[in-house]
Amino acid sequence: MKQLHNQARNRRDEEIPVSQSTPPYSPKSLKHPKSLPRSLNYILKEQRLLFILVGILIGSTFFIIQPSQKSGVSYTDHVELTQNYPKRHRYVTEYGNNNRYSNGVGRVPVGIGGKRKRIVVTGGAGFVGSHLVDKLIARGDDVIVIDNFFTGRKENVVHLFGNPRFELIRHDVVEPILLEVDQIYHLACPASPVHYKYNPTNVMGTLNMLGLAKRIGARFLITSTSEVYGDPLEHPQKETYWGHVNPIGVRSCYDEGKRVAETLTMDYHRGADVEVRIARIFNTYGPRMCLDDGRVVSNFVSQAIRKQPMTVYGDGKQTRSFQYVSDLVDGLMALMDGEHVGPFNLGNPGEFTMLELAEVVKETIDPSATIEFKPNTDDDPHKRKPDISKAKEFLNWEPKISLREGLPRMVNDFRNRILNEDEGKGN
Ligand SMILES: NC(=O)c1ccc[n+]([C@@H]2O[C@H](COP(=O)([O-])OP(=O)(O)OC[C@H]3O[C@@H](n4cnc5c(N)ncnc54)[C@H](O)[C@@H]3O)[C@@H](O)[C@H]2O)c1
Repeated sequence: MKQLHNQARNRRDEEIPVSQSTPPYSPKSLKHPKSLPRSLNYILKEQRLLFILVGILIGSTFFIIQPSQKSGVSYTDHVELTQNYPKRHRYVTEYGNNNRYSNGVGRVPVGIGGKRKRIVVTGGAGFVGSHLVDKLIARGDDVIVIDNFFTGRKENVVHLFGNPRFELIRHDVVEPILLEVDQIYHLACPASPVHYKYNPTNVMGTLNMLGLAKRIGARFLITSTSEVYGDPLEHPQKETYWGHVNPIGVRSCYDEGKRVAETLTMDYHRGADVEVRIARIFNTYGPRMCLDDGRVVSNFVSQAIRKQPMTVYGDGKQTRSFQYVSDLVDGLMALMDGEHVGPFNLGNPGEFTMLELAEVVKETIDPSATIEFKPNTDDDPHKRKPDISKAKEFLNWEPKISLREGLPRMVNDFRNRILNEDEGKGN
């Protein structure tokens, strides 16, 4: 055994030739003792140290300035910040692949910095909505219109196509939608008796938009109506009046629908801390109204231009007050950007009987226009006149344009459209 072991050791010794000239193995080669002073020497020569220091200075200045510049761009170019919302501490995220926060700056809390907002206007292709969109775009905001074109028209917003701050989505608000915005103006709802009977969107549409507002922390404004006062027993109507509404009549889907919409809005405000605003709009007129939607001003104007008799329902002594659309838009924006929930009456307190309105239309369009009387419709309110003292006090708002000033502007638009007769519904 011992012999075998010795033989193996001898064979291993034969396999590994040991060169006499190779130095013994050392795990780490020793540094040349002169290498440190030599590199120092290199750095110090020809002012190299100075160049290195200047380089470090430029580099660090660049990295200090760079992040704040980037966040500046995202405030002004992409993020819609709600500086009016000091209470909120929420974050906006960009959808799509282009994550502007991926530069190490982190998510930008809304409520700091720039003024530009991203705003949804449901029903933005309609009469009031399209004027509101124009004003928001003119102010510098980014606007997304959601509309199913039930009563709205592409022609109302076609002048904004191609504007990079404008987007149009064909969508029915009775279905949920997810967007990232700062404010939601919820107007989508057919507003005339001819149309709303066929499409009671108020409850589901409002619920979906309130759900969106809650989810993304957006401020929500609902365009309610003077119809919530029904056939009022108080005159003029103050916001404190609870109304006199028939819950089962032909107009109820609209009147009660808007009352439910107001209730839902307040429930989301109280229960889910959603920032809400409620506008109660009184009769509004102006360019881009539907030509034949059964609303009294558009009816009279279309009939007078077409040389047809103007239809007066009942004895024509029922009263309404008429607000020009730009006044309403100013009021809606003051409400949205202000600090008060409402409800606020937004209307022109100037009160006219239907016969007086017919006279103004005659003066403006055709002095020879005639009137035709027809039986009144069910539940037609006898009187309507807003008390706007609350809006004056808290929103610093009141209408500026009288009926005699506003009507000719609407007539020009109606004349052109009736002459062209290019109106196609549901385009
Ligand atoms: N104009 C007025 O005198 C008046 C008075 C009181 C209240 N309001 C309210 O103001 C808002 C705007 O009224 P308007 O006069 O501009 O009416 P409009 O009919 O011209 O506009 C309504 C818009 O909403 C859209 N829409 C309707 N249902 C929709 C749905 N389910 N999904 C998506 N879009 C839908 C329509 O296509 C249209 O573009 C309405 O909420 C209305 O109740 C208006």
